Order: sequence, then structure tokens, then C-alpha cells
Amino acid sequence: MADPKALVAGNWKMNGLMASVAEIEKLNALVTEDAAGCDILICPPATLIAILAGKGIDIGGQDCHWDASGAHTGDISAVMLKDLGCRYVIVGHSERRADHGETNDIVRVKAGAVQQQGLTAIICVGETDGEREKGETLDVVTSQLTGSIPEAATADNTVIAYEPVWAIGTGKVPTTDDVAEVHGTIRALLRDRFGDGGERVRILYGGSVKASNAGELMSVPNVNGALVGGASLKADDFYGIIKTYQ
Ligand code: 13P
Repeated sequence: MADPKALVAGNWKMNGLMASVAEIEKLNALVTEDAAGCDILICPPATLIAILAGKGIDIGGQDCHWDASGAHTGDISAVMLKDLGCRYVIVGHSERRADHGETNDIVRVKAGAVQQQGLTAIICVGETDGEREKGETLDVVTSQLTGSIPEAATADNTVIAYEPVWAIGTGKVPTTDDVAEVHGTIRALLRDRFGDGGERVRILYGGSVKASNAGELMSVPNVNGALVGGASLKADDFYGIIKTYQ
């Protein structure tokens, strides 16, 4: 089966003000000029979704509540994100797992809420430095993955992002052999879960991806794109990564 089309997704995290609209306009101009060989997604903070949706680049959410509406002050639902034109929602990012105590059970119900709306859930997994040092990487990723994919998920509404926590925002990147081992393990689990469909689930790598290392990372088997933090904030930097996929 042919590799799935790559997805290069930018996660702006808690960054971005009205002035950032110019970056999206610039990115859109760059991409239009030179057709990209991958799908492109930006997940801005919730405050910017409405203003950035419809500007050409696909827009996604960074998180959502599992309920569709109700008394949950400060939260946003998958229904609301869909209403604004989002097609993807990140769930279970390690910063949500760490800052908000999100367990696999919580991530799974959030992913289910996303998929129930006809949107694609980008489910994040990844080990901490301590877990890696103890040789637990594959066990951690396997239990996060099996615990976080909803019962009703399909190969078409699921994207997995492998983001080693120690590689996020640190400039450190695992060796290509290590990435290949983890992505190969994730692929095997997806095949068990979705049969042949498991081949077309995109598995993104995330953690200090930049234009300078994107090429090497994309050449690793079962790496079908990138989830990019810091380097997605500037159109030129992000476009440098996108260009790797042309
Ligand atoms: P950095 O690219 O800044 O390391 O962040 C990665 C990440 O967490 C994307 O979700």
C-alpha cells in the first residue's frame, strides 16, 4: 500500500495575537505559489481560530472538551471547533497531560468527541526523559496508544503524533533509528487495530522539528509528517519544513 499523504501540522500552543494573522497570510501566499506535496494544518490558540479559518490553510483546534456544550467554564467543544471550520483537533498533547492531568481515559473520550463530529483527532503520545532512560519508551507509547484511541475510531479519522516529551522545545531530537523503532511499533499497533487500514493512518513525528532536520526525519520509515511547535510560528520557518515534502 502506498504511503499516506504527509501532514505537516503547526501547533502554536499559547502563542499568537492578532498580528499573527499576517504570518498565515504570508504562509498562504508561499504555499499557493508553490503547490505543497503535503497537507498543511495550523492549530492556533482558540482566540484566533475564527479569524484564521477561511484564509486558505486548514485550521485545527489544540484541545476540546468531551461534551458538546454545557456548564464547563473556559472550555471549547468539538462542535464549536467544527462550527468554525476546523477539520482536525489535537488531543492528549503532553503539555495537556502534564499541565491538566489528562489521562489516557480523558484523551480517549476527547478523541471520541472529535471523531463523532466528523473531524480527525490527532492523538499525541510520547515518553518522558526518565521513562526513556529506564528503557520504557515502547511500553509507554504502547499503553498511551491503546488507552487513547476510542472504540469507534477509524483509520480515516485518526492521526497519531509521536512526540518524545524530552524533545519538545529543547532542540534535542531522537536518532533516526529510535524514531524508526517507535514509529514501527505504532504502525504494528495500528495494523492490529484497523487491519489494512492501519497502513493509511498518518504517524507524525514531533519535537524540535526544523527545516534543517525535517528532511532526515521524513526519510524514516512510517514517518508521515510532522507536528511542529516553535518553528510553525513564523511563515518562513514553517514553509522551510513544508518544502521538504515537495
Ligand atoms: P517544538 O517543535 O517547539 O519542539 O514543539 C513540538 C510540539 O510539542 C508540537 O506539538
